[in-house]
Amino acid sequence: MLTANLLTLALLAPGALSSVLHPTRRQSSLSSYIQSESSIALQGVLDNIGANGSKVTGASSGIVVASPSKVNPDYFYTWTRDAALTLKVLVDRFIAGDSSLESTIQQYISAQAKLQTISNPSGDLSDGSGLGEPKFNVDITAFTGDWGRPQRDGPALRATALIAYGNYLISAGQESVVTSNIWPIVQNDLNYVAQYWNQTGFDLWEEIQGSSFFTIAAQHRALVEGSAFAQSLGQSCTGCDSQAPQVLCFLQEFWNGTSVISNLANDGRSGLDANSLISSIQTFDPEAACDDATFQPCSARALSNHKLVVDSFRSIYSVNSGKSAGDAVAIGRYAEDTYQGGNPWYLATLAAAEQLYDALLQWNKQGSLAVTQTSLPFFQALVSSAATGNYSSSSSTYSSLTSAVKTYADEFMSIVQQYTPSNGSLAEQFTRDNGTPTSAGDLTWSYAAFLTAEDRRAGTVPSSWGASGANQVPSQCQGSSATGSYTTPSVGAW
Ligand SMILES: *[C@@H]1O[C@H](CO)[C@@H](O)[C@H](O)[C@H]1NC(C)=O
Ligand SMILES: *[C@@H]1O[C@H](CO)[C@@H](O)[C@H](O)[C@H]1NC(C)=O
Ligand SMILES: *[C@@H]1O[C@H](CO)[C@@H](O)[C@H](O)[C@H]1NC(C)=O
Ligand SMILES: *[C@@H]1O[C@H](CO)[C@@H](O)[C@H](O)[C@H]1NC(C)=O
Ligand SMILES: *[C@@H]1O[C@H](CO)[C@@H](O)[C@H](O)[C@H]1NC(C)=O
Repeated sequence: MLTANLLTLALLAPGALSSVLHPTRRQSSLSSYIQSESSIALQGVLDNIGANGSKVTGASSGIVVASPSKVNPDYFYTWTRDAALTLKVLVDRFIAGDSSLESTIQQYISAQAKLQTISNPSGDLSDGSGLGEPKFNVDITAFTGDWGRPQRDGPALRATALIAYGNYLISAGQESVVTSNIWPIVQNDLNYVAQYWNQTGFDLWEEIQGSSFFTIAAQHRALVEGSAFAQSLGQSCTGCDSQAPQVLCFLQEFWNGTSVISNLANDGRSGLDANSLISSIQTFDPEAACDDATFQPCSARALSNHKLVVDSFRSIYSVNSGKSAGDAVAIGRYAEDTYQGGNPWYLATLAAAEQLYDALLQWNKQGSLAVTQTSLPFFQALVSSAATGNYSSSSSTYSSLTSAVKTYADEFMSIVQQYTPSNGSLAEQFTRDNGTPTSAGDLTWSYAAFLTAEDRRAGTVPSSWGASGANQVPSQCQGSSATGSYTTPSVGAW
């Protein structure tokens, strides 16, 4: 009976049957998913950007709406964080050759110049405090309801997105338009970071007031690349130079020996949080070594943390039942989460994959892979015979370890594939019980997260931000601040 059924299946759908039996075919089914989801995800992003985005009627030009969802939950707002992460993807793809994205990038920049000037419940531009406001109405007015504010990652992430486009224009000989249209916005954001990094704020999930690893990591990156960006324009960012080493110093405080404690706050949580995975991909530098101080994706710290974070989701979701210790599982924000049911998130599961693709690129570039006491548990879960050592890319150990990591990374993508509905739309979450898409539909950040994971899997990397020249940790950490000045930006012709 079984044989007969298999035979029938084989006759009717040879591809489907062999995909069950042959890992290589399963691989090709993941590849074809990624290929079809790629255009859906890019269109999903563009549909959520005003003024022409088909799902966000009413949004101003260049405004990135978090999701078209207006009820349960209402995400019909623009968040500085989500918008900046999304634009960074579009800028990287523009630089990689998709010229159709440039007008959207320029409209985003014009919208940010206006947003910076809007007085809001976090403050205003005179002392920079208004830059920490997390979200605005889609018509570029202040959102005045209660919220977890300020959120100090937004200015750093926006600076990173704008610097990527600015550096492209500089390399194309258009320095003067960068000085007039981009630098004033970036300078405000860098000055904000240099002035306020040592104050508490809300984390990227908008729940915890304290110090968030993601925020501090993003701030360090922005100050480092901001300093170089200023220099290449004949400007300076003295706050970047004076504060970056101290921000890096503080970043070390989040490490407990085996994992990142994502929030330094009295929050009653374990500290294991996708916050740290998203940080690792945000500060990935393709030219950096596996540096622990900046938590590079291939660093022993980031790998050990990856294992602990992933393991924290193994037993709490029904969708993860039946998986073995070395198998990928669906990832949420943090195990204690109850928001909208406390489910796995597409963007968190994608980040778990992306960190590993980043690490593979780094090992490949440096031609070796080191297994240390710190990273050994990560590797042993994938290859039980793994042992500490430094393996050259010509060795068989290197091949077996990297191939296990690649397979593991792809398994996270396959989980996303499994829970993507047939029309390809990506919501915020999929339920912990059976993987049905839930919470906000067509989440812009879910689509952006798919695109970056896809790009790293394909070996496309963003520009270096200078991590390897900015990884010296001061021997003594000091609280500090550089008071900056803030000017009203305006964007003229390109
Ligand atoms: C938006 O639509 C208007 C009117 O059709 C058009 O002029 C403009 O170029 C479009 N913008 C983008 C970014 O496609
Ligand atoms: C670090 O924190 C994690 C999460 O709370 C915990 O599982 C782990 O045991 C801690 N590591 C050390 C060395 O204390
Ligand atoms: C591993 O070996 C390579 C090549 O000899 C060397 O460049 C690298 O620094 C070593 N890495 C570690 C962590 O020892
Ligand atoms: C795509 O499918 C999801 C899940 O079934 C559904 O919620 C969503 O409305 C669909 N989107 C479109 C544009 O049909
Ligand atoms: C400020 O920096 C000091 C030194 O790193 C650190 O001990 C302190 O916790 C920081 N406070 C905040 C709120 O960032």
